[in-house]
Amino acid sequence: MCGIVGYTGKALALSPVLEGLRRLEYRGYDSAGIALVVTEGGPLWVEKRAGKLSNLESTLGATNPDANSGIGHTRWATHGGPTDLNAHPHLDNDGKLALIHNGIIENYVELRELLEARGHIFKSETDTESVVHLLSDARKSHGGDLAAAMREVCAQLRGSFTLLAIHSDEPGRIVGARRNSPLVVGVGDGENFLASDVAAFIAHTKHALELGQDEVVDITATTITVTDLAGNVLTPREFEIMWDASAAERGGYPHFMLKEIYEQPKAIADTLIGRTAGLSAEIIGGIDLEGISKVVIIACGTAYHAGLVGKYAIEKWANVPVDVELASEYRYREPSVDASTLVIPISQSGETMDTLMAMRYARSHGARVFAVCNTNGSTIPRESDAVLYTHAGPEIAVASTKAFATQLIAMYLIALHLGRVRGAITEEFYAEIGAEIADLPDKVEQVLETVEPLRALTREFKDSSSVLFLGRHVGYPTALEGALKLKELAYMHAEGFAGGELKHGPIALIDQGTPVIAIMPTSNSALYEKMASNVQEVKARGAVVIAIGDADLASATHNIRIPTSHDFLQPVLAVVPLQVIAYEMAVARGNDVDQPRNLAKSVTVE
Ligand code: F6R
Repeated sequence: MCGIVGYTGKALALSPVLEGLRRLEYRGYDSAGIALVVTEGGPLWVEKRAGKLSNLESTLGATNPDANSGIGHTRWATHGGPTDLNAHPHLDNDGKLALIHNGIIENYVELRELLEARGHIFKSETDTESVVHLLSDARKSHGGDLAAAMREVCAQLRGSFTLLAIHSDEPGRIVGARRNSPLVVGVGDGENFLASDVAAFIAHTKHALELGQDEVVDITATTITVTDLAGNVLTPREFEIMWDASAAERGGYPHFMLKEIYEQPKAIADTLIGRTAGLSAEIIGGIDLEGISKVVIIACGTAYHAGLVGKYAIEKWANVPVDVELASEYRYREPSVDASTLVIPISQSGETMDTLMAMRYARSHGARVFAVCNTNGSTIPRESDAVLYTHAGPEIAVASTKAFATQLIAMYLIALHLGRVRGAITEEFYAEIGAEIADLPDKVEQVLETVEPLRALTREFKDSSSVLFLGRHVGYPTALEGALKLKELAYMHAEGFAGGELKHGPIALIDQGTPVIAIMPTSNSALYEKMASNVQEVKARGAVVIAIGDADLASATHNIRIPTSHDFLQPVLAVVPLQVIAYEMAVARGNDVDQPRNLAKSVTVE
C-alpha cells in the first residue's frame, strides 16, 4: 500500500527511481511522484501526477535531470483524494526538503494545527504533509542533521509509517524510517537503495538489509547507518534475495496474473522442497507443538480462505480444534487466548496491518506464533516465534493466485506435522498423503493444459448481474475464493455458499439463467451425492450450472474436469479454473487485470 523508492549513487537517479516505481506500482496506483536533488542548496526538482505511473511518465517524456539521488512514490490514497496536489512527495515551505510516506499518521490533525499556528502553509489534504513541516523545523533545530531530525519526528508520530526524506543542502543523502510499514535497504556497489520491497532494486543488487521497528536509516552512495530512535547505532540483518529480476517481469505474458497462474506448479514444488518428509526443527523453532490445546489461524482475504482449508486439514489430521479468524475482527473482540494456543498468521506480504495487529494481540497474551509467509524478512515473520516460508516467488498481480496455492500447501504440511507430533496419524497415512501432495505440481500442470475452453465459456456469462459459487467441505472455502477473485477482477457481484446452506435463504437469488459454479467433491467422496442434489436444486430454478470436478456431472450445463486427488487436497486443483475464469472475465469486460480499481497489494493500513 503505497510504494516507496530511494536511490543514491553514480547513475542519473531518475531512471532507477522510475524503474523501482514500475516494480512497486502493484502497491498503489492512485498517483505517482518523484523528487530529485539537481542543484545543491536550490529548490528540489519535483514532478507528480494523479493516476497511474504512466501519467507521470508521459509528462516526463525524455527529461533526465542531472541528479544522482532522489525519491519516488506510488500512492494508494487514504487521506485526501487521488489528485496532483495530494500526490507525494510533499515539500516544506522552503521547497528544499521532500518527504514520501506509506502508512497513516493518526495524530496528523493536531500536528497540522500546531504547525499552522507556527506559520507553516499546507497545500494538500494529506496526513503526510504534517510530517514534512515537522521535519523541516526539527532539522533546523538540529543544525541541519536530517537523521537526528527524523529520529525526533518519529518519536512524535502515532500510527504506521515508512518515511523517506531528502534535502537539497545534502545531495546524495537519503534518510528513512519505519514503524509498522515495510522498508528494506538495497546494498549496491557505489550506489544504495531504499524501498518498500526488494523488487524495486532487484535488477541492481541482490544484497539487502532488513530494518526493524522504529529504526532510522541514513544512506549515501557508499555509507549506510542504522540507528534506533535514541540514536544508538544498530547492525541490521543482511540477506540475499533468492530470485532474480526476471521473476518480477511479465516474461511474455499479457498480464502478471496470467504468468503467476501458470507459475503455480513451480511455486508448489518449490514450497515442498525439503519438506515432504516433515518440517525441520529449524522451521518449528522452539515451539512446543505437543502442548497446544487450540489453533487459531489469522488472515485476510485470500489468505483467510487458505486458513479455512487449513482448519479442515488440521482438525481432521491433528485432532485439535481450530478457529479461523478474520484478522481485522479478531483483536477488537478481545478473544480468550493463552500460552496453550498456537496462532498461525498467514500472509503473502508479511506486512498486512490487520494480520500483524491481531498476531501482536495474541502474542501479548502468551500465544505461540507460527507464521506462514511468502516474504523473507517482512514484519510478520520477524515478530513470530517460527515461520514456514512459502516459496511462491514475487507475486506482482494484485489478485493473489500462486501465493494461495502455496499457502494451501503450507496448511497441509503443518496439519500433517501436528498430526504426527500429536500421534493423531500413522506413518502410513503420512506417507500416503505426502505422496499425494508431491503429485500436486504435475496435477496443476494438467489442469493448466485444459483451461483454454474457459475463455469462450466465460464470455457466455460476461453480462450476468450475479455469479454464485457453491462448494461443500474444502470446496466451500474454494467457492469463497472463486467469488472473491471474480469480484476483485471482474467487478461483478459474486458470492460463495456452502452447498447445504442454500436452502436456508440464498436459493432465492437463483433466477432463470443465473450462472452457478459448483465445486464438486471428488467423485469417491461421501459428499458427492449431496452436492449433486444441491446442483439439482439450483438447476430446477433456472440456474446455468458449471461443474468443476474429477467426473462429469450429467445435470451440469458445462463440465470442467480436474484430476482426481485426495479430497482435502482438491482446492489446489479446483481453484485454478476459478482463477482463469476471473482472469478471462476481467479481460472480457475490459478491466485492468493486474491493478484492479480501488485495490492495492500489501494492505499496510487497518
Ligand atoms: C485477494 C488478495 C487479498 C490478500 C489479503 C491478504 O486476491 O490478494 O485478499 O490475500 O489482502 O494479504 P496478505 O496475504 O499479504 O496478508
